[in-house]
Amino acid sequence: MMSAMANATYVPGFGNNVSTEAIPGALPIGRNSPQRPPFGLYAEQLSGTAFTAPRGENRRSWLYRLRPSADHRPFEPYAGAPLFRAASPSAPLAPNRLRWDPRALPVDPTDFVDGIATMLGNGAPEQLEGVAFHVYAANRDMTDRVFVDADGELLIIPETGRLTLLTELGRIDLAPGQIALIPRGVRFRVLLPDGEARGYLAENYGALFRLPELGPIGSNGLANARDFETPVAWFEDRDVATEVVQKYLGSLWSATLDHSPLDVVAWHGNLAPFRYDLARFNTIGTVSFDHPDPSIFTVLTSPSDVPGRANADFVIFPPRWMVAEDTFRPPWFHRNVMSEAMGLIHGAYDAKAGGFAPGGISLHNLMAGHGPDLASWQGATDADLEPHKITATMAFMVESCWPYRPTSHALANAQLDYDAVWTGFSKARIAG
Ligand SMILES: [Fe+2]
Repeated sequence: MMSAMANATYVPGFGNNVSTEAIPGALPIGRNSPQRPPFGLYAEQLSGTAFTAPRGENRRSWLYRLRPSADHRPFEPYAGAPLFRAASPSAPLAPNRLRWDPRALPVDPTDFVDGIATMLGNGAPEQLEGVAFHVYAANRDMTDRVFVDADGELLIIPETGRLTLLTELGRIDLAPGQIALIPRGVRFRVLLPDGEARGYLAENYGALFRLPELGPIGSNGLANARDFETPVAWFEDRDVATEVVQKYLGSLWSATLDHSPLDVVAWHGNLAPFRYDLARFNTIGTVSFDHPDPSIFTVLTSPSDVPGRANADFVIFPPRWMVAEDTFRPPWFHRNVMSEAMGLIHGAYDAKAGGFAPGGISLHNLMAGHGPDLASWQGATDADLEPHKITATMAFMVESCWPYRPTSHALANAQLDYDAVWTGFSKARIAG
């Protein structure tokens, strides 16, 4: 039995090839699947793209492990995580704007998986398209079980409480203000160093998240590749009954192994978990006038098959200087063909005076008119436009070309009368 729990270490870069071994000599050199890998390890390829994806898109890793992943008995339906469910695509959906208060932290012992509640979703895992928006709230470590998502990659966005992510490919320490991504199919368990934790998950069924193109911005800016951190190989040798909870085609399934599957001693490749500190985002905005489209704040994008139309964009609204002249500086009124699910990690969002708390969610779907509330509009309209800095805030958006459907749980728990924040605007006065 061994469980190496030293501090996590990382290698920098986004999507680059990494070679790492937790035991010297465990990583085969010069070939991926030698006849007899070192120490009798089992070689296994994990692919994130089709074999024939273009080289620049192709993502896969080779894992060298104590036992093959194929060694398991049939999966059975999983009875836990009662709110971790897909939205119904058949129910009529009113074109209303919706907002939610933060989810209460659990009272009963609840781990990361059982503490997930699906709020919004679009697309479908079997179509390899769409994104789901979940919240998690947990107060217990995952000990003798792991979770694996076959439906998509998981972007983890903590709001309260640190997480330790023990994954097949390494260990990630994650704090609010950082994000982590777990690739589709990578098993992991979650520890709660602070005893409880809450946050958001964006589950991407579509093309893998990548850094956006920079166009005229040039070769630097927004999220820089060097600031992404991939964990080095780490494994645990635990011959104890370990439950694998797997999300597959929208449902949860369970199988129990006689060992921990977090047993990858060495790996190499360019499909791996990573973390990123949002404070390292190089925020870019106007230095003359007007408020740029929020795409200027894109951290990661999952493209659709239509150029420029994202399956999912992960966008942040970080601390930044506001200097625009003769400009309404907060987000303007808008109706978009893209659909917007927002969360708040800390602080306040500059388009809302209240009602959108850290841990909360807002949804502005396809063509829903929205923008500043009355107090925010009045304040920004009357303001003396000196340079000022928006500080101590971190809101984010998961924007999608597909409208989101709330789950029945989400619809039953939405704030009442969110529409009221846009009442009270006086009529424009036409001179004449
Ligand atoms: Fe918006």
